[in-house]
Amino acid sequence: VKKSDAVRQILGTRLDNTPRATGSAYAPANIALCKYWGKRDAELNLPQTSSLSISLGKRGATTELKIIEAPTDQIILNGKLLEASSGFSQRLLQFINLFRPRQNFCVAININSNIPIAAGLASSAAGFASITKALADLLDWKIHTSELSLLARLGSGSAARSVWDGFVEWHAGSRSDGMDSVAEPLLTIWPEFCLGLVILDETEKKISSRDAMQHTVATSPLYSDWPRQVALDLALIKDAITTKNFTLLGLTAEANASAMHATMQHAVPPINYSTASTTDTMKKVWNARAAGVEVYFTQDAGPNLKLLFLAGNTENITQLFPACEIIQPFC
Ligand code: DP6
Repeated sequence: VKKSDAVRQILGTRLDNTPRATGSAYAPANIALCKYWGKRDAELNLPQTSSLSISLGKRGATTELKIIEAPTDQIILNGKLLEASSGFSQRLLQFINLFRPRQNFCVAININSNIPIAAGLASSAAGFASITKALADLLDWKIHTSELSLLARLGSGSAARSVWDGFVEWHAGSRSDGMDSVAEPLLTIWPEFCLGLVILDETEKKISSRDAMQHTVATSPLYSDWPRQVALDLALIKDAITTKNFTLLGLTAEANASAMHATMQHAVPPINYSTASTTDTMKKVWNARAAGVEVYFTQDAGPNLKLLFLAGNTENITQLFPACEIIQPFC
């Protein structure tokens, strides 16, 4: 109910627009440098804290929507028809339900992602952001990117950030209807800024970020300190981006990810996304730094790591982490 109210508040009479036959859009994936972990409203995906991410440029998801004469929607992810009962399909269909202009309105949803699904990046942020933008195209909303951010958030919190390129801050906001919980881009362009995806485990995560953050908020004695930590880290990271202080950025982002994982490890029962290879790779990162190669890591709700480094170190990184997939968000 709260979700449809939010949609009505954002779209108003545009909900009655006449659909076109097709719609399509692209949205980049994003990696948080200061993490979103915990909600103050689970239905509207309103976060406990603000967060900050980097969008991955040409790495993301494209969604094509087509109105079909059929009894149900059809979801195709990377060329494979998805069961309507799968977790992702359920979330997606519930999201689409918010916008159907009439009964018997069915769509074929074709999502193609060019980032490894195993990176745990494919289905959530880029997916929901590209679907929101494709719906805007199909249903002819003509709305501002900030409004797309508010709508994408209703599908997945981190999707609020994926409607923008570059560095993006998602403001937590304080309103109970969420109208001020919206992402906004930072102005800094940093062409040398690189990420490396280190895929260590192809299997799907055991517990979704959605469930894991709820469990952490409910049971971790460390969680009460998380908002304070985020406020400090966010200020440092924003400052580091503005002044292009890569050391400050890397150290703070790595510490922020570690703090997030520490809060989960103290949940009851604990949540631990790291495997032995995650820990080994962290050690490799620390050893590389000790040897003068400036590289940092961040980690989300899975065992894989994302490396942060500057373009000048690309060769060193390729040598140290041969399987790492390099992304230059600004190129
Ligand atoms: C660890 O956005 O996937 O990646 O809002 O429930 O869909 P929902 O959660 P989701 O959580 C992302 C968590 C994270 C950190 C981040 O991206 O900020």
